[in-house]
This record gives sequence, C-alpha cells and structure tokens, in this order.
Amino acid sequence: MEEIILEMRDIVRTFPGVKALNGVNFVLKKGSVHALMGENGAGKSTLMKCLVGINPPDSGTIILKGKQVTIPNPLVARNLGIAMIYQELNPVLERSVMENIWLGREPMRGKRSPLVDHKAMYNNTKALLADLELDLDPRQKVKELSVAKMQMIEIAKAISFNADIVIMDEPTSALTTNEVEHLFSMIDRLKKRGVSVIYITHKMDEIFRVADEVTVLRDGSNVTSKPVAEMDINSLITAMVGRELTEMFPKIDCPIGEVRMEVRHLEVPGLIHDASFDLRRGEILGVAGLVGAGRTEMMEAIFGLRQKSGGEIIIDGKKRTINSPVDAINCRMGFLTEDRRLTGIIPVLSVKNNTIIANLDRYKKAKFFLDHKKINRDCLEYKEMLNIRTPSLDALIQNLSGGNQQKVLVARWLLTNSDILILDEPTRGIDVGAKAEIHSLITKLASEGKSIIMVSSEMPEIIGMSDRVMVVCQGRITAMLDRKDLDQETIMRYATSISNHAVA
Ligand SMILES: Nc1ncnc2c1ncn2[C@@H]1O[C@H](COP(=O)(O)OP(=O)(O)OP(=O)(O)O)[C@@H](O)[C@H]1O
Ligand SMILES: [Mg+2]
Repeated sequence: MEEIILEMRDIVRTFPGVKALNGVNFVLKKGSVHALMGENGAGKSTLMKCLVGINPPDSGTIILKGKQVTIPNPLVARNLGIAMIYQELNPVLERSVMENIWLGREPMRGKRSPLVDHKAMYNNTKALLADLELDLDPRQKVKELSVAKMQMIEIAKAISFNADIVIMDEPTSALTTNEVEHLFSMIDRLKKRGVSVIYITHKMDEIFRVADEVTVLRDGSNVTSKPVAEMDINSLITAMVGRELTEMFPKIDCPIGEVRMEVRHLEVPGLIHDASFDLRRGEILGVAGLVGAGRTEMMEAIFGLRQKSGGEIIIDGKKRTINSPVDAINCRMGFLTEDRRLTGIIPVLSVKNNTIIANLDRYKKAKFFLDHKKINRDCLEYKEMLNIRTPSLDALIQNLSGGNQQKVLVARWLLTNSDILILDEPTRGIDVGAKAEIHSLITKLASEGKSIIMVSSEMPEIIGMSDRVMVVCQGRITAMLDRKDLDQETIMRYATSISNHAVA
C-alpha cells in the first residue's frame, strides 16, 4: 500500500457571510502529484491556507506522517516540511538569488558573528541549484529574472527547507509553453525524491500531464477524489461544474463589417516596432505570442496607458490622439487589463463599485445622483450570468477568490458601451464553466457589431474564438492569420521566430 503523508479531515473554515470549507477531507500520498480542482470560490486556496497556517481552520483534524498537528502560522508549517508557492509571487526583487533562498536564516561567519558568510551561502546555493539541475547564478538579482525562474527559486527554497509537501497554486498562469514543460520536469524530479505536490490549476490539459490523483471541491465540499487514470476531461468538468458543458467555444460566424480602427506604424521605444493592423466591426481579433512578446505593451500604448514615440491610430476614418485612458474611453474604447492587482481591481472598494467604476456616466441621474436601482439591477445580472461568488454586492472585492475578482473585471468592461474592446487574458484563472460563459458573451458582443481584440496565451481559446489571429514576437507583428489557417503549430512558429516573417 502506498504511504499516506497527509490527511485533512472534516476541515471547516468560515469567513463573514461565507462558509468557505464545509467539512472537507483530503488525503495525500507520499511522492504523488495531487491536483486540487474546482470552480472559482470552491475553496481550493482556502484549504491550502489552512494547511500552511495562513488561515487556520475553525475545526477539523490535520494528520501529518501519522501524527495529529496544529498549524497556527506559516513558520510552523515550514518546520513541518510544508511549503507553498503562491499565486502571486513575492520575492525580494533587489536582492540576489541566494539572498532570497536563505533570507532570515543566512549562514554566519561564526556562532556569535553578526556577519553573513557569503562564501558559504554561495556554495550552498550552488550545490542546491546543481542538485535540481537549475542553471542560475546565485549572485544574480532576482528582478532580472523571468517569472518562471522566480518560481524555480521558490521551489529550490522549499527543497532547502527539506519540504516534503510542496503546494503550487496556479503556477503556470504566467508561464510560456517551454517554461511550463520545465516546471513539469521539475515536478517529476520532486516526485522522484519522494516529495508530494499539491497542484491547483484551471487548465484542464495540465491535469492529465502532471497529476496522479485529483480531488474536486464544489462550494466548500468534496465532490470526488480519484486517480487521474480513472477520469477523462468530460467527467472532470462534470464533477467541477455539476453539469455537462456542451459547447466549449460557442463561436458563431457573424458578418464582419468595415474597418473600425487602424493602427499605423506604432512605436514604443525598445518595446514595439512598426506595428500596423486593422480591426473590423463585428470581428474578434486574437493576439497570440509568448509571455513577454510585447502584446500587453502594444495594447497599453493603444489605450493611452503607455507613451508612444510614433505611429497613429485612426478610428472610423478619423485620426485620433490618445494620450491617456480618458482619451481612449472618449473614443469608446474599453480595456480589460491583464494584471488584476496593479491596474485592475480597486481592493478597498466593493464588488458593486468595482463593477461600475468605468461606467459612471451610464448611471448618472440628474446632475449629482446615481441611479442605484439600475446599478443594482446590472450588477446582479452579471453576478448571475458569470456566477460571481460573493456574499453580497457590497463585500470588498479583495475578499473574493482570485477567479471571482477577475470575473468582476470582465463584468466591468462588458458593461461599458465601448465599441472597441481590448481584452487582455480575459479568462486567466477562471474556471471552465465561467470561461464558456465569458466566451459566449464575447461572441454576443461581436455579433452586435462591437470590435474585440483578445490577447490570450491559451491556444484553445485563441483558436476557438478568433476570426483572425495576429502573432507578436519580440515587439513585432510576425503574422496575421485567417481563421481557416489557424493551427497551433503555425501560431507557435510565428510566435518564436522573428526571422523573415515580418509582415507590413
Ligand atoms: N479573507 C477572506 N475574507 C472573506 N472571504 C474569503 C476570504 N478568503 C476567501 N474567502 C471566500 O472563501 C471562498 C473560497 O475562496 P478560495 O479563495 O478558497 O477559492 P478558490 O477555490 O481558490 O477559487 P479560485 O479558483 O478563484 O482561486 C470564496 O467565496 C471567497 O470569497
Ligand atoms: Mg484560489
């Protein structure tokens, strides 16, 4: 029989107005990768926060290596060998790789010495990285590294603590295809050492690549726990959403009209070079490329969030000056941003106010008043449609689960009367049920004559939803592909090779 390293029994955790975990059970085997799945707000992150002492449970039992334990804070978790790689990484950017790994427990030059033994720290780090086959310089500043490398450092750090349980909460949301592969081979290596990995993701295909077991939660309760080999994608979706999803990409072909926006020779110093493209009425233009290719920067420049050094934007045949988001909104543009923490949500405002903030004009009544009835009606409609899990519309958005925060942002921009909508990774971190809902909303908007630019790193989404796909590589547009020519290989080829493919 396989050895059980961890058992969580009957875990309950409540927040004001929300029973996040309603008696959850979770059993983890030694050396296995266990996927934790469920819709946004199902309780995945909360369960893990119970395990690492960030949000200890109200009741329930945790049995680790056969012994009952209480984990009141993260330090205790760490000492028990439980490490968590967070959804939002938090490294000390100004410090080096080795300082980040040994932060707070640096080797000293002597027992009483106040001085850090840099040589020992360097050698320890070297050995640790070599052991994990990570090609990194211990002295390099963390801020110079990609998100993927920062994640690798976090994993190395967990290993340096001798962690035998490593939790990864949506680790691949900001990684490129190659980096995801690298992470997976790292996970395989952890397994070989007998480390158990708890893996949270909304990307269905990853489960079958990386996990041995799956546990599905719904509304804070267990739905099922099984070996992955006994599940397929349909049974997994049904377990998560409680119903079958008939159509993953509800694309309808609607007539595409005249050119709405022309971007000509757009330049952003060091980032975007000579970008020109058209966007038509009723069209969904997918934008593909690797993380870091400059897709977001290009959209920010168009929306006036980033300074342009050249080029012009023509909307409905008229040249427009867009130097700020206000200019852009005045041109009836909307922008759902990628980074929900920096430019997206306003944490201290309620769900309702976060929804309507880009839209106040629509709700003005008389001169100084807002039409609260209408606000409530619209917010409720979108809450239902996107299945936003919140105790009320007045709850602070910062208390919502990651995916539910993203849904509020989607509602914000779908509610605006924008004719041109730029959606940057609209379904990142969103569960498969709500994803399908957002896709059908996008399709509906396009069929009403709006023009949509959809930046996405998810190949099925790009291929399933786009009328045309623009591929960006190193700040240049390398291809403009028609729907009939779309396939993963072609897109990847243009996304990785800058040579000779530049189109005018
Ligand atoms: N600090 C908090 N205060 C109030 N409610 C919270 C808090 N943290 C979580 N919740 C609530 O607990 C529930 C479960 O949230 P959790 O973050 O565990 O979901 P999740 O399964 O990780 O979802 P996602 O896939 O969106 O990340 C949600 O309804 C959420 O709003
Ligand atoms: Mg979560």
